[in-house]
Amino acid sequence: MLEEIIEAARQAGKIMLEAEKASIDVKEKTGSANFVTQYDMAVQENLRQALQRICPEADFLGEEGNDRPEQTALVFIVDPIDGTTNFIHGYRHSAISIALAQNGKIEYGVVYNPYTEEVFSAARGRGAYRNGEPIHVSSRPMKEALICFGTSPYDPSLAEPSFRLAKRLFDIAADIRRSGSAALDLCAIAAGQCEFDFELVLQPWDFAASSLMIEEAGGRVSRPDGTPLRILEPNPVIAGNRLTYDAFLAEGLQEGL
Ligand code: IPD
Ligand code: CA
Ligand code: CA
Repeated sequence: MLEEIIEAARQAGKIMLEAEKASIDVKEKTGSANFVTQYDMAVQENLRQALQRICPEADFLGEEGNDRPEQTALVFIVDPIDGTTNFIHGYRHSAISIALAQNGKIEYGVVYNPYTEEVFSAARGRGAYRNGEPIHVSSRPMKEALICFGTSPYDPSLAEPSFRLAKRLFDIAADIRRSGSAALDLCAIAAGQCEFDFELVLQPWDFAASSLMIEEAGGRVSRPDGTPLRILEPNPVIAGNRLTYDAFLAEGLQEGL
């Protein structure tokens, strides 16, 4: 099953790369700075069909359109392009994210970056991998940590608390990054390339696949108060290796958000 999902992601990634030779047609969705392109729609439709062939019993929850699954006991959770703003700008840092959730738990996760041809994959209980090689979170403590964060751009009221928390982390860590793809930030933690990530609101399709990647790579991911993510709902998200995650909670950084 995992190999078939990876293949579906690789095929759909070709559609993203076609945009580099054509024009991108950008439309605004509800909320602030929330865009969709014909490529988001085309990738989602391509994946919907491919995933249905792979597992016909599973329903489908994708970011684009308003269709919602009839049942969520077994459901694919798909972000056709995570990092649409990067994609529109030709910034070449966006990914396809596919998770299969069963009874509220992620069983498989695949995140594919077509620009670097990196496939991050995980199956519950079987580890996390990049292009077939096992990956692990780093063991760097908070003072050596590279911090990623997302700005929850679609809700401007979250800008103030997001930047306040980013500043507090910047003061106790090594440096800070804002990459524009939550799925790739979380995979970077799983691969030991950065040590902590937060965003005050993420949608299921942003975090579903890569949250399993972090758990399988030995990291921690939860809501900022330490309670588990609710897989089918929007959540505030923190993630890190064991040291940075524990330090965040111990410093009380979640208070006052
Ligand atoms: C967005 C990206 C971004 C994050 C936003 C997400 P999209 O996803 O992951 O990094 O800050 O909260 O919505 O809209 O490009 O799929
Ligand atoms: Ca997204
Ligand atoms: Ca998206």
